[in-house]
Amino acid sequence: MDRTESDIPDAGKADQASENPFSSMDPEMAANPQPVFKMLRESMPVLPVEGVGVALCRKVDVDAALRRPEIFSSNGYAVDLGNIRPLIPLQIDPPDQKKYRRLLDPIFAPRQVALLEESVTKLVNDLIDEFIDQRTIDFAASFSIPFPSQVFLTLLGLPLEELPKFLTMKDGIIRPEMVTGEPYGSDAMRKYQRSVAASIYTYFDEILDLREQRREDDLLSRLLDAEVEGARLSREEILDICYLFLIAGLDTVTATLDCMFAFLASHPQHRQDLTTDPNLIPGAVEELLRWETPVMGVVRIAMEDTEVAGCPIRKGETVSMLLGSANTDETEFPDADVVRFDREVNRHLAFGGGIHRCLGSNLARLEVRTALREWHRRIPEYSIAEGHTLVYTSGIRSIEHFPMVLSAKL
Ligand code: HEM
Repeated sequence: MDRTESDIPDAGKADQASENPFSSMDPEMAANPQPVFKMLRESMPVLPVEGVGVALCRKVDVDAALRRPEIFSSNGYAVDLGNIRPLIPLQIDPPDQKKYRRLLDPIFAPRQVALLEESVTKLVNDLIDEFIDQRTIDFAASFSIPFPSQVFLTLLGLPLEELPKFLTMKDGIIRPEMVTGEPYGSDAMRKYQRSVAASIYTYFDEILDLREQRREDDLLSRLLDAEVEGARLSREEILDICYLFLIAGLDTVTATLDCMFAFLASHPQHRQDLTTDPNLIPGAVEELLRWETPVMGVVRIAMEDTEVAGCPIRKGETVSMLLGSANTDETEFPDADVVRFDREVNRHLAFGGGIHRCLGSNLARLEVRTALREWHRRIPEYSIAEGHTLVYTSGIRSIEHFPMVLSAKL
């Protein structure tokens, strides 16, 4: 993109794109994003991101843009995740996207998801059993990484022994540069990512063959039987949905747990409030999703020349919606900088907004709520290991290494 400063009217313009505090999406920013977001909203609500496009920082603009998919499209150009066809429904525009959502929404509706509560509770407790008598654990390795994948395996009706295979597939797509040690975007990295992608299609294809022969009480059987407008999904469509689930439903929950437990480990009063009154947990989940916003932003492509807050955006430019900034916008949230578990109105965008709003939000809420409830019942006191500074990944704010000291109720 060849945007120059003179293209951007004063209303929302950055003084110097090179001084852009957001451009690098660096780990420091991911560790403590709220002050940077505040500064951006005040000084450059439509932020030029050099060589990429723009980022929208205010809630009103993010909200409005997410509701205009005909102009800000989430089609296949927006993100390359090694997939050979567009991910369904994320990289599909209306009207087809709506057709897919009509078919998928009932599978993830609150009543369906509630049926999983017992098995999710058991998964949490089984994981806690494994480390409750240890003094120090790595929260990520012991809990936040395995838990969402185990839930997903349960949904698929697969044995928990598949976990390592699952994690290899997920990491090979989401962070191939870390697995391979090759620079992001390099040929070697792309080659590895594509080989993992191929193994994912094969993996799900083989299970679908089995379910085709004999249905089980699981997600894939439901996808095979689901119909919309009298038509069933093709095999390719189911594969494209499963591929997205692997990307969208695992790291997001891991990052959410990392962010929430890091916050609670360093805020004793909030932690104690949850321990003494578990009824606060649903409100705490929403408030911590708002404040921490584990998925910092989502990306769209401008389908035509347009403008936001007086700033021109050209057809083809990438538009990042900074969900974390929208969620801490004081014009929408009174006392936006205060974390209040009893906040009454909390229209946060941590699950996105508009037609692509998270399909798995009910499942995600169940997972996080259950984790907070069972954990605080059994481990009321915990802290980040002394002298350790947590390092957050950018984009999706997970914490790769999270040493935690426990004081469990044995
Ligand atoms: C706390 C955990 C989660 C967070 C923070 C989260 C966040 C998000 C966000 C921000 C989006 C919008 C993406 C965009 O507009 O570009 C999204 C979409 C999506 N999420 Fe989640 N997600 C979570 C958990 C899950 C889970 C457990 C699933 C499992 C099914 C899931 C499946 C999806 C799917 C399929 C979409 C695409 C929906 C569409 O395009 O219509 N997510 N999620």
